[in-house]
Amino acid sequence: MQNIEPNMIMKEELNLDWANLPFGYVPTDYNVRCYYRDGKWGEIEVSTSDTINIHMAATALHYGQEIFEGLKAFRGRDGKVRVFRMEENAQRIRRSAEGLCMEPVPTEIFCEMVRKAVELNARFIPPYGSGASLYIRPLEIGMTPSVGVKSATEYLFMILVSPVGPYFKTGFKPTNICIMREYDRVAPKGTGRFKTGGNYAASLKSGNHAHELGYSAVLYLDPRDKKYLDECGPANFFAIKNGVYITPASESILPSVTNKSLMALCEDLGIKVEQRHITVEELAEVEEAGACGTAAVISPVGEIDDIDTGEKYIISADGNPGAVSTRLYNLLRGIQLGEEEDTHGWNTVIENI
Ligand code: PLP
Ligand code: COI
Repeated sequence: MQNIEPNMIMKEELNLDWANLPFGYVPTDYNVRCYYRDGKWGEIEVSTSDTINIHMAATALHYGQEIFEGLKAFRGRDGKVRVFRMEENAQRIRRSAEGLCMEPVPTEIFCEMVRKAVELNARFIPPYGSGASLYIRPLEIGMTPSVGVKSATEYLFMILVSPVGPYFKTGFKPTNICIMREYDRVAPKGTGRFKTGGNYAASLKSGNHAHELGYSAVLYLDPRDKKYLDECGPANFFAIKNGVYITPASESILPSVTNKSLMALCEDLGIKVEQRHITVEELAEVEEAGACGTAAVISPVGEIDDIDTGEKYIISADGNPGAVSTRLYNLLRGIQLGEEEDTHGWNTVIENI
């Protein structure tokens, strides 16, 4: 573990193709860390190492005590750097901690570490107009060695960042997704509403299968009845039906900050919002559909194929995103880039970088 003075390091020129970044890991200058030991959170540490030292019997490695978050920082047209809704992510990781019997990180520590991680890696924030952003990945892991199944008493909370491009390679262009009943991602009253690594491990098999069949993601159904739509790979799902924004109400999906923001924007725009059960068959009646999330932003859906029944729901016949999705996408991006008024106070401006 290194705790170093950030400005003492010589930095080589960055040679990044900002406009063509994948959604992936790019090494940056620093990450920030904080340990929970002896019943309290310690000092925030700055590290240049991209590895961690962990006991081979740590609960994170054996019993899945791992939770994480995802948020983004954007460089605006005015040169300012804005982080989108970090308090929401701070609250959600606390709920995930409760769900996995881990120590919740205080919101102030979370927010201070987000600021620090962005400030220290300012040269990795993609320029305005590139379409890319700085992805911020906080994570918490159980560090205590334990062979018995029990909670750790020591934790590491850390934040790494990486400049990223779009999650779905096509960006704001419709892609096709599929329904596959042979897989579940989570259990009905399981960990679906928490952001924990195990949910993603459980989604790899179905995700790979969907990719092999040429789909960008799986649209998961509710794991109890396999009757209602749940969520779409690493993103929430929404559709537009008769001009109304509809999105699943479910106990087994992650409460998405992006979806919550889109619902608020709909209300601002006078678009009605319904958060409720959506049956698979109702897809035949929708005008638009999309996956939404920090990584996905809004990824419009062109077609949804039900692999088990053979039904094909054509959402975008002309291969273009729908009018409501486009309006919401432009407004959300505009707020994040400082081009639209931030009437809800969602952005935190990181000064002097
Ligand atoms: N659902 C899942 C399973 C996710 O991994 C994510 C990504 O964080 C989302 C939904 C979208 O959530 P948010 O908008 O907070 O990024
Ligand atoms: C995010 O959108 O922040 C996510 O966490 C998705 C990620 C699993 C790719």
